[in-house]
This record gives sequence, C-alpha cells and structure tokens, in this order.
Amino acid sequence: MKIKSAQFVISNQDVEKCPKNEIPEYAFIGRSNVGKSSLINMLTDKKSLAKTSGRPGKTQLINHFIINDSWYLVDLPGYGYARVSKSSKKTFQKFITAYFEKRKQLVSAFVLVDIRHKPQPIDLNFMAWLGEHMIPFSIIFTKADKLKPKAIENHIEDYKDILLESWEDMPNYFVTSSSKSIGKDDLLNYIESINTDFKD
Ligand code: GTP
Ligand code: MG
Repeated sequence: MKIKSAQFVISNQDVEKCPKNEIPEYAFIGRSNVGKSSLINMLTDKKSLAKTSGRPGKTQLINHFIINDSWYLVDLPGYGYARVSKSSKKTFQKFITAYFEKRKQLVSAFVLVDIRHKPQPIDLNFMAWLGEHMIPFSIIFTKADKLKPKAIENHIEDYKDILLESWEDMPNYFVTSSSKSIGKDDLLNYIESINTDFKD
C-alpha cells in the first residue's frame, strides 16, 4: 500500500471524544520510548507527524492520524515509565484501558517491543490482558538496526518460547527499524489486507 496522505486529526484523553467515523483503526501501544511515534512517522514518510523524543513519556494523549482518508493510525502514551507521577500514571492507565475496552473501530492493536530486550513481564501481561478482552493484536519488534541478524533471530525465538507457554499460536509479528525503514512494506501490506476484509 502506498501512503498518499497522512494528517493529524485530534488528541484527547477521552475515548468518547475520539473520531466518530466507522473506519478501521490501528493503535500502537508499548513501553515508553519503544518507538511508537517514530514508527508512525516512518510508515507515513513524515518526519514530524507524531512527536518523538529521546526521553520517555513524550506522548501523553490518544492521537488520531488519518491515512489515505480511509483509516486511522493511533499513537498512544507508553506504559512502564517510572518517572511519571503516580497520579498521572493512574490517569494514563484509565484512559488507555477505556480506549481498548470501548473503541469499536479498533480492528487491531500493535504491541511494540524493543528487539534488544528479553521478554518483559509488563509486555507479556499487557498481551495477556488484550487476549482476555478479545482484542486482536500483532507484535512489532522495534529498533532492529541495533542488533545483528542472528541476535534478532535469537530474541524472536525467546519470545516464541515464552508466548507459546500461554498462547496456542505465536501472534503475528513484524521486525522493524524506523531509522532504517525496515519492515515498512510488510506492515503496510498487512494493514491493507485487513482494510480490504473490513470493506467486505
Ligand atoms: P513515548 O511517547 O514516550 O511513549 O515513546 P515512543 O514509544 O513514542 O518512542 P519515540 O518514537 O518517541 O522514540 C523514542 C526514542 O527511540 C527516540 O530517541 C527515537 O529516535 C528512538 N527510536 C525510535 N525508533 C527507533 C529505531 O527504529 N531505531 C533506533 N536506533 N532508534 C529509534
Ligand atoms: Mg510517543
């Protein structure tokens, strides 16, 4: 799929105020600093569409971007950022949870994990929570430019081993790098295939 247009639509903390159109929507979620906003910029070829930062905790709202006038990419705040105050952590948790529980337009979540790290409980727990709520998701491994191919393979194997303890199949997954534009076509083609099914 070619991206012809990508525009910011709205930011908010309230799922009820998200856009009302009945078009497919994909949300990026994962630890703070994992590269959610950077991936949106990479996919859309727009360097500063979503705000990024070297410091975790940059994205603080639910951000809707409309792509090709026909589907949404949603950038969410990250979880697991220790330096956010307890009260703002609670607020984040509340509206992110409400977003996933209530957003009917969400056809799939993408859980981003840093390819350099071993599987972390916080990510595995979040995937389990999505499963309990019957929310489809895929995994996106980020920052693949930081590892050699063999190490990438090993880290994916670690994930497979641990996920297959609790899941029947390994979820769909993608290996990406926003700085090297790795994984772009695979991800966009996958989204396109779901969008096509959505139309039928
Ligand atoms: P929050 O909004 O704080 O939750 O973070 P985020 O997940 O949106 O991360 P963001 O896209 O802001 O990126 C965090 C940092 O990681 C930035 O310094 C990016 O430049 C860097 N980064 C993101 N993707 C990649 C990548 O693929 N490769 C490398 N090397 N760095 C990356
Ligand atoms: Mg962000």
